Amino acid sequence: MLDNSQRVRVAIVGSGGGTNARALCQYAQGDSVHYVVALIVSTKPGIGIVDVASDYGVPCCICGSKETFDKDLEAALREHSIDVVLLAGLMRQVSRDTIAAVKGNMLNIHPSLLPKHGGTGMYGIRVHRAVLEAGEKTTGATVHVVTDEYDQGRILAQQETDVHPGDTDALLQERVKAIEHVIYPQVVDKFCASLDLPSKTLEHGVKWAF
Ligand code: GRF
Repeated sequence: MLDNSQRVRVAIVGSGGGTNARALCQYAQGDSVHYVVALIVSTKPGIGIVDVASDYGVPCCICGSKETFDKDLEAALREHSIDVVLLAGLMRQVSRDTIAAVKGNMLNIHPSLLPKHGGTGMYGIRVHRAVLEAGEKTTGATVHVVTDEYDQGRILAQQETDVHPGDTDALLQERVKAIEHVIYPQVVDKFCASLDLPSKTLEHGVKWAF
């Protein structure tokens, strides 16, 4: 059994219902999981992801201002000695400088089989609509490393599901989200297990260039 000081400290950052945040928090309850959810960052108060923080007793920071978003996010990550940042439905673009500072330790989940149906403007229900319009036979979810090229970072995992005749965008979204809730925690666990910290140094908070 790992105690919290041996686990990688992750922050979940989002702007929505927080179903992925909930799945990540729930998975982190396991004895041998390699991460602890040490911070939730929301871009708004009163939304689902904020409820997840209070349900799991995780510190929550509201970074509401568009103008100072990166500065506020960086300060929160530093304050909570965060090692890995997990985007989950974030409706803001993280700046090039912040992404560079995190040195590859920022992951995202996207509701399609990237590189298909990714990029600017491809989020939420729009993705599933595009999948239907393109007549795809399969769709799914992708976990990838965040880089400054939108949805183009190294793919860590993908899982497919069939598109059924008569599927609607809402049905697809529901089916893909069920996949997201399984793969995101598993991939994060593996990713964190593979990091060199904190077991060797017991020092948290990546030496980021903030
Ligand atoms: C998910 O579909 C995820 O793939 C995308 O944003 C959505 C977030 O949903 N990046 P939730 O807030 O986790 O329910």
